[in-house]
Amino acid sequence: MLSDKAKSEIQQLKARYPHPNSALLPVLALAQKEHGWLSPEVLEEVAEVMGLSPAQVGSVASFYTMFNRRPVGKYLVQVCTNVACSLLGAEHIVEHLKRQLGINVGETTPDGLFTLLEVECLGSCGTAPVMQVNDTYYENLTAEKIDQILAELRRR
Ligand code: FES
Repeated sequence: MLSDKAKSEIQQLKARYPHPNSALLPVLALAQKEHGWLSPEVLEEVAEVMGLSPAQVGSVASFYTMFNRRPVGKYLVQVCTNVACSLLGAEHIVEHLKRQLGINVGETTPDGLFTLLEVECLGSCGTAPVMQVNDTYYENLTAEKIDQILAELRRR
């Protein structure tokens, strides 16, 4: 369930726009930041606070891939597999991550630490291959870099 602080911030966001629909992207981002994903219960709560129907809120949440509709690990690893990254070895990066994490794309490690996803262009084609872990970009990836990144994340 949303915290009182989150509800208050949602009200502030709602007040900035002429129609509540217009505030849904930042509101859903806020709700996801608090919970890590958007459960049906959270979506219903957002709808209630926004004065919208659950269908309106659900349709926006399901349209944008940046919104997680299932629980994810502490670290959401999103590997770009679009053209520039593919040309520079994104498939090898994904295979390496699958081996190192012991999971397939779309899965979460049993300890709940990592979820692995393939995504479209992350807008950093000049530093391909690229992955995003939560809010951090990792660029010019190699297998060795990935091993260092995973080791560092496991130590946190
Ligand atoms: S193609 Fe990977 S960041 Fe653009």
